[in-house]
Amino acid sequence: MTQILIQEVVARDGLQNEDDFVPTDEKIKLINNLSESGVDKIEVTSFVSPKAVPNLKDAEEVMNGIERKEDVTYTALVPNLRGAKRALKTQVDEINLVVSVSETHNQKNLGMNTDESFQSFKEIIEYLDGSGIAVNGTLATSFGCPFEGNIDEDRVLRFVDQYVELNVSGITLADTTGMATPRQVYELVSKVRSKYPDLQLTLHFHNTRGMGLANVIEGIRAGVVRFDSSLGGLGGCPFAPGATGNICTEDLVHMLKFMGYDVRADLDHLIETSKSLEELLSHEVPGQIIKAGKITDLHPA
Ligand code: COA
Ligand code: ZN
Repeated sequence: MTQILIQEVVARDGLQNEDDFVPTDEKIKLINNLSESGVDKIEVTSFVSPKAVPNLKDAEEVMNGIERKEDVTYTALVPNLRGAKRALKTQVDEINLVVSVSETHNQKNLGMNTDESFQSFKEIIEYLDGSGIAVNGTLATSFGCPFEGNIDEDRVLRFVDQYVELNVSGITLADTTGMATPRQVYELVSKVRSKYPDLQLTLHFHNTRGMGLANVIEGIRAGVVRFDSSLGGLGGCPFAPGATGNICTEDLVHMLKFMGYDVRADLDHLIETSKSLEELLSHEVPGQIIKAGKITDLHPA
């Protein structure tokens, strides 16, 4: 059956939104564990302003401190040229650019308008030319904005065009605050895929309104095989009111495996790592499988 690729974002999307700073060596241990579990890509950190996201101020140390596995892609979020310069000095495989489709959210998140973001992407891509570092382009608030509400599909498609013109290696449609409905996912993804059938497309969902896994199913039905998810279901953008966690990695892998999809990641290993994450953070995580167990974990009658 179809292979689905799991792209872990807990170390970036998850930890950026925690109340407390997670010590650098604990971050490294967590990421090494995720590599061990066999996820396909790991977003390790972000090279953003430490004033904007103090929890990830140790980006260089984390990126250079992890053990790297051949078959895992190590990526990091980059908002501007300054971030790209920092990333280039580390062993990053890919940088993940981000611009919001919503003008208001882009201003809140990145302090610039969307034209300025794309202008800086052009400079970044020129700067990285010849470095061998891949570039993924994320479109935040692709399915709705907590400030502006509905996002016009044509505007998303125009932003996709702009990334394609920059020759990025992949594009992510992100639902920053869990506003996407399954039908909307199918329709928007179908439009993007009919225009760019060979585009490496990722979907990034937050489970803010309980639609996360339903959205994955509709994404798969529209032909997507790459999904971002976060261990334990942590996550959220600090610059979007009401943001809550990503879809939960172990819940996603559990669903896909029991549906018969081919997923490389080891479910039991992910569940153990998620339990250790709860201990590390000293609070519960939103994920459901670590509470309920797998559907094959039966109880004595
Ligand atoms: N890495 C480290 N420091 C950076 C930086 C980067 N990539 N980009 C800017 N800075 C520093 C500047 O040097 C400056 O420092 P100073 O105050 O000590 O002089 C400070 O950050 C502000 O920079 P400025 O260029 O005025 O930009 P800004 O304040 O408008 O911030 C961003 C712009 C993009 C750097 C900031 O909004 C940011 O990091 N946002 C990240 C948002 C994020 O991670 N959201 C969640 C994921 S989507
Ligand atoms: Zn996110």
